[in-house]
Amino acid sequence: MENKKITVAIDGYSSSGKSTMARRLAASVGYRYIDSGAMYRAVALYALEHGMIDAEGKPDSNAIASALPDIEIDFALQTDGSQHTVLDGKDVESEIRRLRVSEAVSSVAAIPAVRKALTAMQKQMGQGGGIVMDGRDIGTAVFPDAELKIFVNASAETRAQRRFKEMVEKGIPATYQEVLANVAHRDHIDTTRAESPLRRADNAIALDNSAMTPEQQDAWLMVQFNKAAGL
Ligand code: DC
Repeated sequence: MENKKITVAIDGYSSSGKSTMARRLAASVGYRYIDSGAMYRAVALYALEHGMIDAEGKPDSNAIASALPDIEIDFALQTDGSQHTVLDGKDVESEIRRLRVSEAVSSVAAIPAVRKALTAMQKQMGQGGGIVMDGRDIGTAVFPDAELKIFVNASAETRAQRRFKEMVEKGIPATYQEVLANVAHRDHIDTTRAESPLRRADNAIALDNSAMTPEQQDAWLMVQFNKAAGL
């Protein structure tokens, strides 16, 4: 009998390395991977491009809520196995990683109508299991019944270093100080917002990966996966 495909929810602070571990787990076990943060980033990019965020960075919640039915978000599988985020038919994968989107996204993600619409889409994507999704509220709000829930953390400095290195490699302009400030700012908004704030689900396994290599994380996660999947 074929094993039942489970649902894996990986939550944690920004730049905690959760996307890398989620993506690699999905590839090794043949599951679908969804980066839910990319969906919030796509909505933030849409809002920026449509003048729905003012000079102080405050989003126009009503305008964004009314635009939601028109915002189309997809993922396009690349030949190397990675996925690119597609907004209204355009590949925006590198655009959504830029600092201007990182600066706007937490406030956009705090809008209840945005959370409601994206949570509904994510639940739909997870029907039938066989999915690894990473984000902030996957184990608490999107898949509260997931068989495996992980909550990842690392110090703000470690996370800012990782993010900065990634941005330098991709040629995205930013300084380490800007990235650190952005990480701290997002931690604050993500953990204090009224709607589905970032918190560890009661039954999530906590992982502090500050001193772990990506390979060590992969091995650790595979052990948790096999246990949860009954393998
Ligand atoms: O994981 P990330 O840094 O790409 O996420 C971008 C932002 O989206 C982050 O500030 C918090 C928000 N987010 C969220 O509120 N809920 C999720 N499930 C995923 C991301």
